[in-house]
Amino acid sequence: MIQVAVFGYGTVGSGVVEVIEKNKAEINKKAGEELNVKYILDLRDFPGDPYEDKVVHDVETILNDPEVQIICETMGGLKPAYDYTKRALLAGKSVCTSNKELVATHGPELIQIAHDNQCNYLFEASVGGGIPIIRPLNYSLTAEKIDAITGILNGTTNYILSKMEKEGADFADVLKEAQEKGYAERNPEADVEGYDACRKIAILSSLMCGKNVNYEDIYTEGITKITSTDFVYAKAMNKTIKLLAQSKEEDGKFYAMVSPCMIGMDHPLSMVNDVFNAVFVHGNMLGDSMYYGRGAGKLPTASAVVSDVVDCARHIGKVIMCFWDAEKVSLTGIEQASRKFFVRVSADKAQAAKETFGNVETVDANVTGEFAFVTDVMTEKEFNEKAEKVGIISRIRME
Ligand code: HSE
Repeated sequence: MIQVAVFGYGTVGSGVVEVIEKNKAEINKKAGEELNVKYILDLRDFPGDPYEDKVVHDVETILNDPEVQIICETMGGLKPAYDYTKRALLAGKSVCTSNKELVATHGPELIQIAHDNQCNYLFEASVGGGIPIIRPLNYSLTAEKIDAITGILNGTTNYILSKMEKEGADFADVLKEAQEKGYAERNPEADVEGYDACRKIAILSSLMCGKNVNYEDIYTEGITKITSTDFVYAKAMNKTIKLLAQSKEEDGKFYAMVSPCMIGMDHPLSMVNDVFNAVFVHGNMLGDSMYYGRGAGKLPTASAVVSDVVDCARHIGKVIMCFWDAEKVSLTGIEQASRKFFVRVSADKAQAAKETFGNVETVDANVTGEFAFVTDVMTEKEFNEKAEKVGIISRIRME
């Protein structure tokens, strides 16, 4: 029997216990041994909960118990998760986590500590919730040179943008409704400003490069400035607007960015709606592949954590390779990246815009008082200079 402990009995932690219990037969068969949740670490008590007798408040009880071989860290945040994870790994206990913040901040160090101690630090649930994406990148696509990853990695913002598209509603109204329904946090900043997606693309980019992409180096723009009028223009172009997290290697240069983008309705990511997530991966031999599913939620995320537990159970005392070195990747600033831009200016600036931007494609969506157009391909730097000269209402990057 393999003894498991769960750190944090919140949404995901309680989901982990539920998945292990509900799918006991399948999981034990696949793990090759019976798994048992011996402890649940939480500051709170859970009177009446079927697992209340497993709840402990002192982490030392778990760290000092040699029977515990696998830990599920579902606490979130850096403190005290970082310290607890490090100590568990140093004690030779594998850790499976859903904590994207910790993985994005200390991933390579924790992987190294795990390997030095013949155990594993696995993080399938940290990106895309229940969608298998870490394992495909680590094990399935090993024959590929992966040169681009594009993802819809945040369910909250995808829900908001999908609603804005369908109902012609404004950002603030949809956010309020999403908060009332519990789809968006009361403090939605991490989601709507793109910080959550930024940490997730940092993790995927690091696995793509095999080196460390620091999330603080990734240009990040959220969806708070997207309006219902932008969707009117998107529709006129047979496009939609998605918050894309992107990572690309081109001629030895690495680019990473989180930003709202206009994408064609024929792009597979345009069909990813509501709280769903998807990751689009391009490999030099395979071409495109896409991974789609529920990017958040109790049971989907818990399922991914438990899949890591099964992997650890199958590899007790053995290291599962993960290519993510501490060496830092130097990202190329996005001002050097080239693309087309969708631009809105007030009607009186139409002539100036045409003269400054040169060859532009007009977008007619019957919006009064405005002139809208799509530029030629140009660098961000060149675009910013021209936009400043003209004085624009807004711009959205074209994918
Ligand atoms: N707040 C996140 C989202 C939860 O909306 O996708 C999963 O990381």
